[in-house]
Amino acid sequence: MSDVSDPPPPERSAPLRNWLSLAGAITVLGSLFAFVFLVAIDTVARETNPYVGILTYLVAPAFLILGLLLIAAGWLTQRRRSAGQQPVAGARRTLAIDLSQPRDRRFLGYFVSGAAVFLLLTAFGSYQTYHFTESVTFCGETCHSVMQPEFTTYHHGSHARVSCAECHIGSGASWYVKSKISGAYQVYATTFNKYERPIKTPIKNLRPAQETCERCHWPEKFTGNLDRSYVHYLADKKNTPFTVRLSLRVGGGQPGDGFFGGIHWHMNVANKVEYYASDPQRQVIPWIRMTSATNGEVRVFRTKDFQGEPPAGSIRAMDCMDCHNRPAHAYQTPNQAVETDMALGKISTSLPYVRKTAVEALTKEYPDNDRAIEGIATILRQKYQTADGVAPAIAAVQHIYQEDFFPKMKADWRTYPNNIGHKDWPGCFRCHDDKHRTVDGSVAVRSSDCTACHTLLAQGRGEELSRVAPQGVEFKHPGGDLDPDVLCSDCHNGSVQK
Ligand code: HEC
Ligand code: HEC
Ligand code: HEC
Ligand code: HEC
Ligand code: HEC
Ligand code: HEC
Repeated sequence: MSDVSDPPPPERSAPLRNWLSLAGAITVLGSLFAFVFLVAIDTVARETNPYVGILTYLVAPAFLILGLLLIAAGWLTQRRRSAGQQPVAGARRTLAIDLSQPRDRRFLGYFVSGAAVFLLLTAFGSYQTYHFTESVTFCGETCHSVMQPEFTTYHHGSHARVSCAECHIGSGASWYVKSKISGAYQVYATTFNKYERPIKTPIKNLRPAQETCERCHWPEKFTGNLDRSYVHYLADKKNTPFTVRLSLRVGGGQPGDGFFGGIHWHMNVANKVEYYASDPQRQVIPWIRMTSATNGEVRVFRTKDFQGEPPAGSIRAMDCMDCHNRPAHAYQTPNQAVETDMALGKISTSLPYVRKTAVEALTKEYPDNDRAIEGIATILRQKYQTADGVAPAIAAVQHIYQEDFFPKMKADWRTYPNNIGHKDWPGCFRCHDDKHRTVDGSVAVRSSDCTACHTLLAQGRGEELSRVAPQGVEFKHPGGDLDPDVLCSDCHNGSVQK
């Protein structure tokens, strides 16, 4: 019920007319515009940018909320301030623009051009941020100085032109957010020097291969045989060359569509291989389950020491990264790196024992990079004095250290096993080692079946290497007869053997 005798309600002063609320309003406007703009570029862009999700759905809304908070804060302060004052009648001014007034016309002109410049800058800013966040510089350099090892090795791999985000994040907002939440922790860890050295792998929240690798690589592709040469030099005085030339049966394909089988059989024919690894680096695999794509038959292989069932939640379905776990960051072993430089003539093979000496110089413990560079020079100088080719050899070995050893992050080939083969790490022999059996005693491909995965076309050096045997020859191991019960990686470790 209203009482006519009451005095008229006091005029309220405009609660939003203050600088804080004005700044808030501008922020709200800018973020709304940026949101619309980002959605638009993401729709017309040829490639989906994995980072656009976070800009659109996190950064822009964050600014929107900030703007709304500013408006509210301005309103509250204004109200508190005006609560103590007596309202003045007629204090409320109304906005009236009269275009016949030159002052108003000027004002409107300033306002329109100001707003246009503001929106343009917002568009430019969002567009630049959008591009920057997906750049390799952002991932590898800006806040990720911690990632120098990954950044360096990445530049030598076949994926040097694939952005970090394409493998580590992929597209879609939810993975973006997940990776940024862990990224936020990483920023904290970097700032306060709390990060792990080395960075632990396997990365827990890495996106499954189907959503990263398989966006570019068609898993059913039939690769057939790949001809690869592995160049070595023995650790003797003459640095005797020894090369192995293999035809790798990569295979692939899909049944009903031509040839299939070979190494890529694991993935490509939709066979499901699952396993349980008992160590964090997935190097010890005591249990494997195979589900056939053709008849649905399930077979379980176990080692003798492991007869139980894997703990709940520990079973992993095999994908590309169980073999190709170093597609972008392969830390070369000192043997590999030195042998490559010897083959290229950067390290002279006429220096006696240079293969062995160079590897020893690389693998000595050094506290930091500078000490390593000095140490390498000292060792080689002491050994070879002023022999021909010492200076370039020193430079080459020092260069190898820069590219493959990262003492600050404790990262090198020892930290990050490469699962693709079986010589320096267990790799394929984690499962194919004659020891994993089903209850009826059958074995998956045996390690001792040297022709199951490749054919040895030639081996040795010089003349011998040009006599290629398409039917394959037996491996003549330079280290003596091979014992099928001993894995290659029990002796070979990528460096000087014990
Ligand atoms: C071709 C795909 C691919 C690209 C491109 C890529 N990575 Fe990786 N990255 C991987 C895989 C696979 C792993 C190993 C994951 C595992 O073992 O769990 C990895 C591991 C890492 C690790 C963990 C430590 C280590 O050395 O294994 C870091 C850090 C990393 N990557 C950062 C980067 C950065 C920074 C870039 C860009 C400069 C990048 N990656 C580009 C696929 C990629
Ligand atoms: C954005 C596209 C893209 C993505 C994503 C991608 N690759 Fe590649 N990959 C390439 C290109 C390009 C090459 C180089 C082809 C060449 O050199 O002929 C390549 C080459 C390769 C090779 C052969 C060369 C080598 O190093 O032996 C392997 C193996 C490979 N990729 C595995 C992977 C795996 C595993 C992943 C997922 C972690 C992946 N790729 C993700 C584009 C991609
Ligand atoms: C069982 C282990 C294994 C799995 C699983 C596997 N690969 Fe391979 N892949 C190999 C081996 C071994 C080679 C031979 C090259 C080598 O030794 O470096 C190879 C070669 C390749 C090449 C090079 C082909 C060429 O023409 O140069 C590509 C590309 C590739 N793999 C992609 C993939 C992708 C993508 C996946 C997942 C869908 C995958 N691989 C799964 C073992 C595997
Ligand atoms: C996680 C365990 C696991 C790993 C690691 C693994 N494999 Fe296998 N592989 C299997 C299983 C299981 C089978 C199926 C055995 C069967 O059918 O009897 C198989 C089958 C094969 C076959 C036979 C395919 C066919 O045509 O029948 C080849 C070849 C092969 N693997 C090569 C490799 C190579 C090369 C590597 C390393 C790059 C590797 N595997 C790593 C588990 C593994
Ligand atoms: C389960 C499949 C598989 C079996 C079984 C297998 N290999 Fe291999 N082997 C590979 C793969 C894959 C590579 C290539 C690794 C790479 O590209 O780095 C390889 C590489 C090699 C190399 C070259 C390595 C180097 O760096 O010089 C030699 C030598 C070799 N194998 C010998 C053998 C001998 C001998 C046997 C039998 C005792 C055998 N392999 C059994 C899969 C297999
Ligand atoms: C009992 C230990 C032992 C085992 C097991 C062993 N090797 Fe060797 N291997 C040696 C020794 C010792 C040499 C000679 C090293 C030298 O003079 O550089 C050698 C040399 C080699 C070389 C040439 C030089 C080099 O260092 O690359 C190759 C290739 C090789 N082995 C492959 C293999 C493969 C593949 C397997 C598994 C099938 C294997 N070895 C198992 C001890 C072993």
